Amino acid sequence: MTVKLDRNRLVLRSCTIDPPLALAPMVGLSHSALRLLIVELGGAGLFFSEMLSVGRLPSENENISPYLSRTPAESPLFYQIFAGAGQDVLPAIDRLHALNAQGIDLNLGCPAPALRKLGAGSFMGDKLIAATVRTIRSATSLPLSAKIRLGKTLDEKSLVSFCKMLEDEGIDLLTVHGRLHGEKFCRKVRWDWIAKVKKSVAVPVIANGGIFSVADARKCLHESCADGLMIGRGAAVRPWIFAEIAQDLYGLEISKRPSLTEIYFRFIALLEARFQPERRLGRLKQFTHYYAENFAFGHHLATGVQNADSIEEASDTAGKFFEKSDK
Ligand SMILES: Cc1cc2nc3c(=O)[nH]c(=O)nc-3n(C[C@H](O)[C@H](O)[C@H](O)COP(=O)(O)O)c2cc1C
Repeated sequence: MTVKLDRNRLVLRSCTIDPPLALAPMVGLSHSALRLLIVELGGAGLFFSEMLSVGRLPSENENISPYLSRTPAESPLFYQIFAGAGQDVLPAIDRLHALNAQGIDLNLGCPAPALRKLGAGSFMGDKLIAATVRTIRSATSLPLSAKIRLGKTLDEKSLVSFCKMLEDEGIDLLTVHGRLHGEKFCRKVRWDWIAKVKKSVAVPVIANGGIFSVADARKCLHESCADGLMIGRGAAVRPWIFAEIAQDLYGLEISKRPSLTEIYFRFIALLEARFQPERRLGRLKQFTHYYAENFAFGHHLATGVQNADSIEEASDTAGKFFEKSDK
């Protein structure tokens, strides 16, 4: 394993992450259109796909699949996979090589009910996790990362031994979402617990959870001592958040950001460029749910777009809303 750290970047095997700021994997949000918008606004050094089933990945058609749609500009891109008991991960790994993945991320933290049935994500047992990481490691020389939560209960000893096990099996990078498995987003995120992982493993650690501003990013880095940050919901609210953090923390030159209206319509244009017509509206609704937080009366924007029957109607509704709000 080749891991070099310096102030602004991580080098994992063949992949340079510069700056160490990552878009989180998020179902329905971390797709080609949002990634491209973030590329244009600047500041992100790494992208994660939304989670992909190892069972479905081998037969997914990259020419029409909204999950696999991607341009070379969205780089480096780590595809996140989830696997359950009895699933063969190797065909999915072959597929990720064919898709020119820059890295592979194993979802070990997702508490979604759909994963419970499969015994995947946070429902995967430790033995299966060890065996799965070992299998993937032996099948790829790409950087291999894992995204975890803090565990079922707050227990430093088992958290550390779990992370060491992942490291021993060949993980190159750990992302830690600082909440327990069952905890909802309303629970305060424990960045100080990420520090317990950071001081116990040699691989780089990325901290995740509750970063919505430059001040949050600074505080999270200070408390977690992590090597980088991953941002989820904050990137859907403010896709320029990476640019702001990169400028403040890493001294990157960032150009002036477009207006809120321009960014929203650029997102719609990117949805139109990247997705089949029937795949656009749902993704616009999901994004708008978060983006509306930028406005004092954003719930009018979110509800208007939510009730639209077409992307044209949603654009029209949003345009009228922006005319009334003075941003
Ligand atoms: C809509 C949505 C979808 C998500 N999908 C995934 C996923 O596919 N894989 C994953 O590991 N985590 C997923 N997450 C969790 C995020 O990656 C992240 O860990 C969590 O949102 C906390 O970070 P944040 O506070 O910056 O949003 C999802 C979160 C949201 C809000």
